[in-house]
Amino acid sequence: MGEPGTRPITDTVPVTAPLPGSDPPSVERRYLDLLKSALLNEPGLEAEAAFYLAREAQVAGTPFTEAVAYDIPRHAPELLARVQGARTNGRFLDDDLRRPGFSYTMVGRHRLDELDACLATVLADDVPGDLVECGVWRGGASIFLRGALAAYGVTDRTVWACDSFAGLPAPGSEHDIQDLSPDVAPELAVSQDRVASHFEAFGLLDDQVRFVEGYFENTMPDLEVGTIALLRLDGDYYSSTMTVLDALYDSVAPGGFIVVDDYGLSYCRQAVDEFRAARGVTAPIEQVDWTGAHWRKEA
Ligand SMILES: C[S@@+](CC[C@H](N)C(=O)[O-])C[C@H]1O[C@@H](n2cnc3c(N)ncnc32)[C@H](O)[C@@H]1O
Repeated sequence: MGEPGTRPITDTVPVTAPLPGSDPPSVERRYLDLLKSALLNEPGLEAEAAFYLAREAQVAGTPFTEAVAYDIPRHAPELLARVQGARTNGRFLDDDLRRPGFSYTMVGRHRLDELDACLATVLADDVPGDLVECGVWRGGASIFLRGALAAYGVTDRTVWACDSFAGLPAPGSEHDIQDLSPDVAPELAVSQDRVASHFEAFGLLDDQVRFVEGYFENTMPDLEVGTIALLRLDGDYYSSTMTVLDALYDSVAPGGFIVVDDYGLSYCRQAVDEFRAARGVTAPIEQVDWTGAHWRKEA
């Protein structure tokens, strides 16, 4: 979301880790692909495009007919392509904060595939620990993690979904972008009850999910999480990113993944780069798309 990074980045970089596969795909693989598609609302993108058209018509005071709504590929193919592209790349339509769409996650297809691959690697390599996401919004990426544990029959790991559930805090550092306050971006505020209802909608709300409500500055230092196999950072800000790394990095098991959603945003990248430099982390960062990246903790 927001400002593009200063490094050369592309929207088409594929995930680097191969997903486990078989031919024909296993039932588990089909479930996970279907889950990703549903979380991204990929089957509903025509309806999203119709919604945008209807809203624009309302603002312009021009007519909008059902005939148009029911045949978007014919009447608005370019808009539909833009909506599809935005969802694939994890962007809001036209990079407009007011157009977050109707998916359960804003991470997009490339980064969900990345998460899928990282988790598959963790399980294949038996890296111990729980799965933690800091910054969950509507919950989609965390829901995917819970669904993947279910698909693989894993019952001894927990998904921790950590968020204020009230949107971004006021900028906490001079390094933080200053224009994403809750007033400016109310769409980022999704209550814990609503996120829980999203888990429920996918049949994935149970005691392998823990919600941690509050600003990271308050919740992270005392988080009783134990060992972490996968830590997903998606708090946008410099301060949110640094707070989580400071509090949780040492709990990540060797071989575990640190997945950074906002590495394409200069303020988040600054926090990650500063942290890695301060801690002498030299494990290479793999960039996944225009903003997603991860590294694997060395032994
Ligand atoms: C970009 S959204 C997360 C997107 C989400 N991972 C997804 O799958 O769509 C950023 C989230 O981080 C949360 N957040 C950012 N900084 C925070 C902080 N310091 N404490 C708690 N929550 C924070 C916001 O409330 C928001 O829900």
